[in-house]
Amino acid sequence: MKAIVQTKFGSPLDVLKLGEIDTPTPGKDEVLVKVHAASIHIGDYYTIAGLPYVMRPMFKAMRAKNDVPGMDVAGTVEAVGDDVTQVHPGDEVFGSHKGAFAEYACFPERSLVTKPANLTFEQASTLGVSALTALQGLRDQGEVQPGHKVLITGASGGVGTFAVQIAKAMGAEATGVCSTRNMEMVRSIGADHVIDYTHEDFTEGDRRYDFIFDNVGSRSLSDTRRALTATGRLLANGAQVGGWFGGLREPIAAFASSLFVPQQGRPFVSTANPEDLAALKELAEAGKLTPVLDRTFPLDQTPDAVAQVGEGHAQGKTIISLEKAN
Ligand SMILES: NC(=O)c1ccc[n+]([C@@H]2O[C@H](COP(=O)([O-])OP(=O)(O)OC[C@H]3O[C@@H](n4cnc5c(N)ncnc54)[C@H](OP(=O)(O)O)[C@@H]3O)[C@@H](O)[C@H]2O)c1
Repeated sequence: MKAIVQTKFGSPLDVLKLGEIDTPTPGKDEVLVKVHAASIHIGDYYTIAGLPYVMRPMFKAMRAKNDVPGMDVAGTVEAVGDDVTQVHPGDEVFGSHKGAFAEYACFPERSLVTKPANLTFEQASTLGVSALTALQGLRDQGEVQPGHKVLITGASGGVGTFAVQIAKAMGAEATGVCSTRNMEMVRSIGADHVIDYTHEDFTEGDRRYDFIFDNVGSRSLSDTRRALTATGRLLANGAQVGGWFGGLREPIAAFASSLFVPQQGRPFVSTANPEDLAALKELAEAGKLTPVLDRTFPLDQTPDAVAQVGEGHAQGKTIISLEKAN
């Protein structure tokens, strides 16, 4: 099969190569998916670039056996292992695991569910990491309730475009922070208020929020906390990643300081499970969650696509289409 292969860390343009490798064979609890679309999130860029450096041993250990990067897919089930019970050959599925940037991917059964009937493969391929992070961030970290005031920074990005929509579906009042060019888009996905960070600083206004879902980390912790209610919660989900430790300090600092104030801020890594993937499918089918798509690239242009996502100015989700000519 055709696949993108990565054997060392570095710029996606240097280390990602299109190759011809063996099609994987599913183990007992695994599903072989014919990939129709894969999506990219900024974490793919960090794991390919090997940033921050201190994480490299972990990134290497987490790499797919066949060295294929990428996590998010949507496609058709080609074959299943003996112990698989919930999906069957021919089913259209989506989910996230590892080894996505290829014609076929082998995923554990628990990391896939049936595709929402009303979404294309390209749209469905965006849900496994970014939408899941938005759901788990709002529900589990924010404990968001109807009527809560929620502020989402990076509202125009992969996680943010889902977080705005899911916050609204949960009955919250959603404020999105984005740049001027994205204001209309963030409004169009349901934000009640939009703050243009190039003109206004959300930490300096009078508004106070029950939950701040910070996907950027451009402001200091003490400034960001100022915009929370006395018992509000902060999810420091974004950070300036780079060097040896860049990207790790912010969530740790948010957690450490929350030991001394009533405003909570726990570290958080999203994890795929069938229940939450099914919850996303339900939201999509109810018309409450529509992925915002940025550009679509064919498989052989994956290095350019990952490099573009790595620049950090996404407008929704970037897609690799296996149906586009290579
Ligand atoms: N905890 C987890 O398990 C988990 C999972 C997934 C992602 N993450 C983290 O979540 C963060 C966001 O990920 P993502 O995939 O959504 O990133 P993304 O797709 O690159 O989106 C980032 C967005 O932020 C906007 N932005 C840049 N500076 C901003 C500012 N000062 N204020 C408001 N918006 C700004 C960018 O657009 P402009 O530059 O055009 O404004 C872009 O649209 C990343 O740090 C990622 O590592 C964590």
